[in-house]
Order: sequence, then structure tokens, then C-alpha cells
Amino acid sequence: MAGKKIIAVVGATGAQGGGLVRAILNDKGGGFAARAITRDVGSDKAQELAKLGAEVVAADVDDEASLKRAFAGAYGAYCVTFYWAHMSPERELAEATAMARAAKDAALEHVIWSTLEDTRQWVPLGDDRMPTLMGKYKVPHFDAKGEANHVFADLGVPTTFYLTSFYWENLIYFGMGPKRGPDGKLAITLPMGDKKLPGIATEDIGRCAYGIFQKGRELVGKTVGVAGEHPTGAEMAAALTQALGQEVGYNAVSPDVYRGFGFPGADDLGNMFQFKRDFQAVFCGPRDPQVARALNPALHTFAGWLAENHGRIPLD
Ligand SMILES: NC(=O)c1ccc[n+]([C@@H]2O[C@H](COP(=O)([O-])OP(=O)(O)OC[C@H]3O[C@@H](n4cnc5c(N)ncnc54)[C@H](OP(=O)(O)O)[C@@H]3O)[C@@H](O)[C@H]2O)c1
Repeated sequence: MAGKKIIAVVGATGAQGGGLVRAILNDKGGGFAARAITRDVGSDKAQELAKLGAEVVAADVDDEASLKRAFAGAYGAYCVTFYWAHMSPERELAEATAMARAAKDAALEHVIWSTLEDTRQWVPLGDDRMPTLMGKYKVPHFDAKGEANHVFADLGVPTTFYLTSFYWENLIYFGMGPKRGPDGKLAITLPMGDKKLPGIATEDIGRCAYGIFQKGRELVGKTVGVAGEHPTGAEMAAALTQALGQEVGYNAVSPDVYRGFGFPGADDLGNMFQFKRDFQAVFCGPRDPQVARALNPALHTFAGWLAENHGRIPLD
């Protein structure tokens, strides 16, 4: 550990941060050490990271003073917010601001900010192709992240703006896996028409982030997007059919129908998919799998991810 550059990782017990912590710890001879940030240093997940060799420290993204303590003495930080924990874009912006201020306070040399597009740059609030949500957002869980970019920039924090993609794990944990229709056949439902949906294995988000840190400061001030592949809904269904050994169809509903599904966040996700569907060049362009593979040669394709994970997809 001595002489290694410390990366303080927010969300270390979760998907994005966990992948980064494991990438750092798996590279024993590498120049980085992992400081895993958690709200509960005694949890099983936190203790597991400690056993793997991470330094585990307590902080909460809602508590700037705790972030300052957790970032102190580090070389860099991975900053991510947890929109679905509270579903408040204003709170997400405040959390990003707290992380940017803590990064500035600790004079970090390299921060990766896990952001997404502020879709209002392409779909202004007055554009009625999709409804305005919560008064001033089109895609609330994207827009506040994008809005927060300027906070890192304005404070002069040396930041790489990191654009992640749709997690394929959403098929396991987020209720987006194949469901049986009235005909008894499995199908995935996405309002993407015949358009491409950049996706990624969550573990690869962390591995690519590690690749960004390994490049030194070359990617400071830059936007880097990552995806494992850009399959269409039909291609995802075909890959699922192959992996599961039973037919999976593709139910290409309209964004309006998707927004009407009624689960919490359905309107936000309906708008998100519509944005991805209707702004393919804007969304797919910066998420080049070749760029991701250069950062992380172990990058999974969708079929590769399915080969390892198909047994974890609940089929109801
Ligand atoms: N699902 C997708 O397809 C997708 C795609 C792109 C981006 N995203 C974005 O990814 C973000 C979530 O990242 P993730 O998936 O890596 O999260 P995650 O797997 O849900 O992990 C969250 C971890 O963060 C910690 N945490 C939660 N609230 C915290 C707080 N107030 N302060 C400090 N730590 C806290 C928790 O750890 P402790 O309990 O140990 O503190 C938890 O283990 C969301 O903002 C979402 O919009 C999602």
C-alpha cells in the first residue's frame, strides 16, 4: 500500500464503485490503493472489501464534512450518486455538489464523476414530445447529473466526466427481465423501436473507470462514455433466446405506453428510453465499445455477459 495513489470510491459496496474497488485490488502490482466509502463500515459488504485489501471509511453523500474526511489524503475519487434511493433530482444535485466541494477541499488530482446527459439540452422543457416531470425535468435521473457537471468544472476540480450505459443487470434486479405474456411466451418490453440501446455489465463500468485512472491525467477535462455493445431490442431478445434456451420475444411498446406502466419512475424511464431512441447519434456516439475495450480489455458483450449471468435472470 505504501507509495500507492489512493482512490476514494463512493458507492464502494454497490455496482459501479464495487467494480472499481475490485479492479484496483485485483491489480496487485498496480500503482493504486482502494479506499472504499460506505455509510456502514461494519456491514458484510464493507467487511468483504476490507478482507480483499481495501481501506474502508465511513461517509455519506448527504454529509459534506464526512466526504471531506473521506477524501483527505487521497489522489483521486470516484463520485457517483444514488438517484433511485430517493428519486429527488434536487437532492442528487446537492450530493454531487458536496462531492465536488470535498474533492476541491482535498485538492484531489483526478476525479471521475459518474454523470449522464442533461437531456434538456436536446429536449427543452417546452418541447412536448415528452412530458415535463417534477416541474423542470425531462429525464429527472439524467438531468440533475448533467446539470452537476458545471459544479465540478466551476470549482476547478480535475474531472473526467464519465457517461455510463444501461446496466444489463437491470434484467436481474430492476424488473426489466423477460416476462411471460398471456400466451405463456417470454418477452422483454422496451420502448426502443428498432433502435440501439447501449448497455454494459456493471463490473465493466468499474474496470473502465480503473483504466481511466491508469491513464494518469490524460483524460482530465474530457468526457468518456462506455458501453459493452449497442444491441437493438430484437438483438437482445435473440441473445436471450440463445442463452436461456427458450424463445424470448421483443415487445416494442411506445414510450407513452411505457410511461403508463405505473411503477415508481415509469415516467422517468419512459422519457429516458424515448431520449435514447430519438437521439441515437447523441447517445450512442460517445459510448464507443472500442474506447471501453481499450480501457478494459475484459469488456463483456451482451452475449458474453449472458453466458456468465443468464442463470441469475428471474423468469416469471
Ligand atoms: N441502472 C442503470 O441501468 C443505470 C445506468 C447508468 C447509471 N445509473 C445510475 O447509477 C447510480 C447508482 O449507482 P450504483 O448502481 O453503483 O448504486 P448501487 O449499486 O445502488 O449502490 C449504492 C451503494 O451506495 C451506497 N450509498 C447509498 N446511499 C448513500 C449515501 N447517501 N451516501 C453514501 N453512500 C451511499 C450504498 O452503500 P452503503 O449502504 O454501504 O453505504 C450502496 O451499496 C444511480 O444514480 C443511477 O441513476 C444506473
